[in-house]
Amino acid sequence: MINFKKIVAEKIAKAANLNLEEIYSYIEIPPNQDMGDYAFPCFKLAKVLKKAPPVIATELKEKIEEDNNVEKVNIVGGYLNFYINKLELTKSVLTEIDLKNDNYGSNETGKDKTIIVEYSSPNIAKPFHIGHLRNTVIGSALYKIYKYLGYNAIGINHLGDYGTQFGKMIEGYKRWGTEYDLENNPIDQCMDIYVRINNLCKEDESVLEQCRENFKKIEDGDPYYVEIWNKFKNLSLKEFQKIYDLLGVTFDSFNGEAFYSDKMDEVVEKLQENSCLKDSEGAKIVDLEDKGLGVCIIKKSDGSSIYATRDLAAILYRAKTYDFDKCLYVVAYEQNLHFKQIFEVAKCLDLPKKCLNGLEHVAYGMVRLTTGKMSTREGTVIKVDELLQEAIDRVEKVIEDKNPEMENKEEEAKKIGIGAVIFNNVCSTIIKDQVFDWNTVLNFNGETGPYIQYIYVRTKSVLEKAGYIPNIEDVKFEVLQDKESLKVISVLYNFENILMSVVEKNEPSLLARYLIELAQAYSNFYNENKIIDDNKDIQDARVYLSKAVGTVLKTGASLLGIEMPNKM
Ligand code: ARG
Repeated sequence: MINFKKIVAEKIAKAANLNLEEIYSYIEIPPNQDMGDYAFPCFKLAKVLKKAPPVIATELKEKIEEDNNVEKVNIVGGYLNFYINKLELTKSVLTEIDLKNDNYGSNETGKDKTIIVEYSSPNIAKPFHIGHLRNTVIGSALYKIYKYLGYNAIGINHLGDYGTQFGKMIEGYKRWGTEYDLENNPIDQCMDIYVRINNLCKEDESVLEQCRENFKKIEDGDPYYVEIWNKFKNLSLKEFQKIYDLLGVTFDSFNGEAFYSDKMDEVVEKLQENSCLKDSEGAKIVDLEDKGLGVCIIKKSDGSSIYATRDLAAILYRAKTYDFDKCLYVVAYEQNLHFKQIFEVAKCLDLPKKCLNGLEHVAYGMVRLTTGKMSTREGTVIKVDELLQEAIDRVEKVIEDKNPEMENKEEEAKKIGIGAVIFNNVCSTIIKDQVFDWNTVLNFNGETGPYIQYIYVRTKSVLEKAGYIPNIEDVKFEVLQDKESLKVISVLYNFENILMSVVEKNEPSLLARYLIELAQAYSNFYNENKIIDDNKDIQDARVYLSKAVGTVLKTGASLLGIEMPNKM
């Protein structure tokens, strides 16, 4: 595909006799298309060239040649505005989509780069809540998009499967295990046991002591205790897997906290060697007060490790095993301090520089319900499996009302219901808190997953109505030069750029917004243009454009984890 921005940059760089990359980085997209396709802010060069921006603009314009790609250059204030040749653009985009099809927008940017994306990471024997859902959806989208851009992406589920709470679970299980049917609905049963034993611990210090000892037994590898612990773990994983299957989410590794239990000595040794460790009231800590980050405990006074220690062991292990260029932690912003601390402490672990610089917390906002905050105690925690099922049920009901004859109703309802929930989790800037409201999530006309699916289905029915897909050789690009068609073309052109920005900023919402923009552009095109037409040239071109839009909507949605229905 023609890189018009690069062509513009080359022209400016040549005219100004300056570095191409620098010029390229200054080029902007004007706020509206009437002002051209690219704009160059000449004030950026005022210092080097020691001239006023309008003077620079005039001088550069004189030297820049217009040609078949760049049709026109205008001066507006201190800006140079460039108009590219729309016919060339149309030809270039559609030919590229024809060539690459389902792979349109993919590239090799990430060749030889390894990116770890850590996401989901729920806690064993505890419910998978809607915070974990958001995390899972965001992380999985990043994982898929990195792969699409040629990175060697590794998806890791850092399970919360370690800590005193497991000593508690085992104590509860030993006491009342026979009262519970763990095979059925294990997470609820576990929660029940957990609440019960916690209450007992509060009343009776000796029970808490017992729980600590239980956990110690797991750590020491006592077969009986390890077996019960594994039982909880497997039951939970089975439940989590149901959610992952519904969402179409996969991982390359489930190495969670427990995996690092025998890998923490190395952390302590390295910190000691590098004189980073301090004794404090019997505990071993790294003092980060001078960085404004408090202290990071590495070993408690009773010799046990904490969450942070295991994260540090994980960093060492991952650096050694994967030699990563980036390691992204998709975790709620509530853990900001934790990640600042461990990234700071990691400086004492003798990591390769690239790994150390590659550590990054991808923080996302909380999920709230329209009814207020979530609380386990008040029973206002929405369980994700139930939420996903409700989404599917609600869609099934709509189908039953509006289109009872539809084929494969259940399959389609699943794609739409799940797609709606996924989209809702990635459509706003991830750091923002998010409100979950059924009315917005399932609104077919709003900026939602179902809206994108609906427009996709429309492109499909256009192809069906036409009864054929034209050959690209038969498409007369001249037909697609009206405002609405050109808008669609320019959005299609931008797909790869958007994907590149997603990984640059770790912000999958950019892709979600993009798909809305594309769907809306197509909707306008569809409303303004008659597609099935007596004039074969017109029909071929418009049908072809519909097909191209369908392809890109489908590819983009699948990168977010959303499947497209066949009917709606
Ligand atoms: N299990 C934790 C939770 O549910 C999240 C783990 C985040 N990842 C990490 N490497 N600390 O809150």
